[in-house]
Amino acid sequence: MCGITGYVGARPGVRTVIDMLRRLEYRGYDSAGVAVAGLAAGSDRGDLEIVKAAGKLAVLEGQLQDHWEMQGTAIAHTRWATHGGPTTPNAHPHYSCDKRIALIHNGIIENFQELKEQLGAAGHAFTSDTDTEVMVHLVEEAYKATGCMETAVRKALCQVRGAYSIAVVSTHEPDTLYAAKTASPLILGLGNDENFLASDIPALMRYTKRVLVLEDGDFAVLNRQGVRVSTRDGEPVMREPFLVTWDEQTAERGGYPHFMLKEIHEQPRALADTLRGRIREDGRVVLPELEAFTAARLAAFTRISIVACGTAYHAGVVAKKFFESVLRRPAEVTVASEFRYGDPLVGPDTLCVVVSQSGETADTLAALREARRLGATIVSMVNVVGSSIARESDAVIYTQAGPEICVASTKAYVTQVMALYLLGLHLAASEQRLSADELRAYAQGLTALPDAVEAVVAQALSVEDLAARLADKSTFFYLGRGYDYAVSLEAALKLKEISYLHAEAYAAGEMKHGPLALVEKGVVVVCFATQPALFEKMLSNLREVSARDGLVVAVVPEGERRADAAADYVLRIPAVLPCFAPIVAVVPMQLLAYLVARARGCEIDQPRNLAKSVTVE
Ligand code: AGP
Repeated sequence: MCGITGYVGARPGVRTVIDMLRRLEYRGYDSAGVAVAGLAAGSDRGDLEIVKAAGKLAVLEGQLQDHWEMQGTAIAHTRWATHGGPTTPNAHPHYSCDKRIALIHNGIIENFQELKEQLGAAGHAFTSDTDTEVMVHLVEEAYKATGCMETAVRKALCQVRGAYSIAVVSTHEPDTLYAAKTASPLILGLGNDENFLASDIPALMRYTKRVLVLEDGDFAVLNRQGVRVSTRDGEPVMREPFLVTWDEQTAERGGYPHFMLKEIHEQPRALADTLRGRIREDGRVVLPELEAFTAARLAAFTRISIVACGTAYHAGVVAKKFFESVLRRPAEVTVASEFRYGDPLVGPDTLCVVVSQSGETADTLAALREARRLGATIVSMVNVVGSSIARESDAVIYTQAGPEICVASTKAYVTQVMALYLLGLHLAASEQRLSADELRAYAQGLTALPDAVEAVVAQALSVEDLAARLADKSTFFYLGRGYDYAVSLEAALKLKEISYLHAEAYAAGEMKHGPLALVEKGVVVVCFATQPALFEKMLSNLREVSARDGLVVAVVPEGERRADAAADYVLRIPAVLPCFAPIVAVVPMQLLAYLVARARGCEIDQPRNLAKSVTVE
């Protein structure tokens, strides 16, 4: 996730914004840059300088020796690539054509392509592949027409669609910073005769503890004397500053005790970002990444083979079901380590869908190469731009989870599932397998998911009692049918990896073929019953467990009461389209795993024996 910092005041601007940026490194990034408007120490240069570099901050710092003591209003940025690879030209800030305006951005501009064409026709030259660069040219164009930076930035914002937090500095008004926010975070830090801005509070804490959190649609003007906040249209708004009382480490985690909890809370935003710009008004899915594949080519893939490891594999299990239901043809999902040595039935007629958060998992990469050797076409779902799997794929659909720091995957999983649904719907629409009404219903169902997840996250406290009751248990089963079985796999993995408790997932109907023998008093059995068509069947499974004194936790849609009598504990989740329930049903299980692990005193963000990116076999 990109990091933004900005400073206006008497301190050396470059040094200050880079120091602040260092405190945002935890967000992950692949390149960095800085812009300063003002005077170099001992010189009367009044220009706007940008220095940027691919790689870590140290690389940029190596190029800043002459700039270190420069005074002047400054902005800086760490980039987590979304549009365009992690290269120096794609790093922020971006210049206007006349090099008098510089802009940094966190977010995604959905309509950048059409704006780029319009600006190109008006004579603007672009130097990067980013979506961001259009914004600085829009500001420049509006400044030419109005001669006022504030109006120019406002006008530019009115033309873009998408998510952004931005900061702008210029030689037209070198003592002023302009900033705005919609969807991506932006915080102002209030000082004495100086002011700051940043994507997150840790960047500000060394300089000031008085902060003000901008809300969606806010527009801010910062100079040494103060800050002024208004709506994008100029209506003044009041945002109450408050004093930050966290220590720096807590601030890095946004005030959460662990990255895992922070990342669980980020899921509504991550889902919204993965969906952003993907659904047309008529319900059709927009996947420009697959533009090169004609409908005839897509329809010619008689086999769909999904490969992945761990949590990403579980996302694939959901996708297999969904693909088969909307495409009415077989889809396979295989653990990558089995695929690579499994003499897979793959050929030129195969669409191989590779799923990976890191894009570097050794087994998954090897499976991809094996599929390619056999002639398959590779479409990958990856969270890290420019990673090995992304580079070696024919097309990449990036999940927009942002950097995931906790080893146990949460937000990456839900965004993988979301991206896979989008792919399934795109294929189904291109093969004309769904009516216009069906497409619209699916689209509405997807659009409802961020709020549904938000509702579950907001009720985190309701899982606390249950977690306290389960923390001393030693055997857990997770049962489900259909989509609920797919969620069971992921729910069990979450508990295993961070609480070190033995958890098994089973297709519910399999219990009586063996595992039921293990159920006795003290054994915890989580039963997912989110699928109306299978509810009665799950109810029978739940009663079987209850009759053997197992402790039953039922996960059901809101309004469903039929499990209440047989379950010891009922967790209710918002009712969504049954095929999309995995994204919602997994969330209370992530919270449960987290709270059980916490109650047991486990190391949550870095569980024993595990690594975030498994780059060895
Ligand atoms: C899940 O919590 C784990 N971190 C692990 O199973 C992970 O999903 C797996 O190693 C695959 O990683 P990838 O998505 O980066 O390829």
